[in-house]
Amino acid sequence: MKILVVGGGGREHAIIRALKKSPQCTEIWCAPGNGGIAYDAICKDIKATDVDAMVAFAKEEGFDYAVVAQDDPLALGMVDALAKVGIPAFGPNAAAARIEASKVFSKNLMKKYGIPTADYETFDNADTAMDYIRGRGKYPVVIKADGLALGKGVLICQDEAEAEAGLKEIMLDKKFGASGNHVVVEEFLTGPEVSVLSFCDGKTVIPMVSSMDHKRALDHDEGLNTGGMGTVAPNPYYTPEVAAECMLTIFAPTVAAMQAEGCPFKGCLYFGLMLTPDGPKVIEYNCRFGDPEAQVVLPLLQSDLLTVMQATTNGTLDKTEVKFSDGAAACVILASGGYPLAYEKGKEITGLTEGQLPGADDVTVYHAGTARKGDALVTSGGRVLGVTATAPDLATALKKAYAAAEQIHFDGVHKRSDIGARAMAALNCR
Ligand code: AMP
Ligand code: GLY
Repeated sequence: MKILVVGGGGREHAIIRALKKSPQCTEIWCAPGNGGIAYDAICKDIKATDVDAMVAFAKEEGFDYAVVAQDDPLALGMVDALAKVGIPAFGPNAAAARIEASKVFSKNLMKKYGIPTADYETFDNADTAMDYIRGRGKYPVVIKADGLALGKGVLICQDEAEAEAGLKEIMLDKKFGASGNHVVVEEFLTGPEVSVLSFCDGKTVIPMVSSMDHKRALDHDEGLNTGGMGTVAPNPYYTPEVAAECMLTIFAPTVAAMQAEGCPFKGCLYFGLMLTPDGPKVIEYNCRFGDPEAQVVLPLLQSDLLTVMQATTNGTLDKTEVKFSDGAAACVILASGGYPLAYEKGKEITGLTEGQLPGADDVTVYHAGTARKGDALVTSGGRVLGVTATAPDLATALKKAYAAAEQIHFDGVHKRSDIGARAMAALNCR
């Protein structure tokens, strides 16, 4: 099969490396891809959000299957458009992608179907929202822009002044554009966070191994929110008991709710959960693999990814085996100095041979923001590389990932030094 993966970051690289293990996969392309992905796939420079150009290209090249990995093309209906030209694709259609693309949609869905989440109200007017927040008088309060905002549309406000400033930023100054026409104001929850990605075919949901993201830029969860600075899998807080409860109260009800609403979800549904003192609650849904969650979850997948993906498209997931290894994985992100604010690009990356670390057993380097400059590999984004190691246990995976990361260099490289520390502490408390 000739396959197209749409996107160009570390997650897409992880998907490509997993798909390439499939005996069915004979040719793999990535659009737009990046300098490091080009060692594993043929890259075609088309913007992931340019639906018309992407679909025209896919038709012309005659792909047998496509994987739309990024949120915005999914929300823009790329899967619907590919179907129209006869190309089956992994991912939800635009109607189902609303579960991520509109927080008002997802919150209302959870309320209607009794799926546990933070209490909330939605507003289309900043004054009314502020009146509500003042009347409520409880801080911190969480304000979320309705639409896609690169993971940055969530504000945790400690007092009235911060809430006022936050509402102004989102609703009046339109920092996130039209995403801020509506906001969700919700209760602040506490507890460990767990990411659970799942395969869905509209009716059946199969959770993958759980994971833990590290969203803040600096050690000890300080600094600004980022796309994610590292991940570990499995997440030790996600015990078999918690998993059973989540299936009963969250996963199965969500998939049934989407079906009942006439927009069955097919693809990867990502449950961002908080394990609160009152039980697991949904913080957010994403309509795609997480990044960098995919970089620890997919290396542990033992089943053939392409077969599983096709089963989500064809509605045959209940007859498909999805198996994960019992081991652990850790991913350490190497970012450009300054990220998530301004950073420089074009720094030469040393230590890699054809994008990988030769001789480092069970280590894979996933490329997020790299480009080719002649024979050299240079930085071209905020998150540059994700160094993943797998091992029978988390402690060994972390040690290997950090040892590997030490061998890669570029000017201004920044990484957190405490990826997995909280997970290890939780394991050691058992
Ligand atoms: P989101 O983009 O919705 O995942 O939010 C980003 C981060 O904000 C989450 O990973 C949480 O750490 C935090 N967050 C979001 N909603 C809440 C909430 N209701 N209570 C506490 N923290 C939250
Ligand atoms: N790592 C969080 C996300 O992909 O949304």
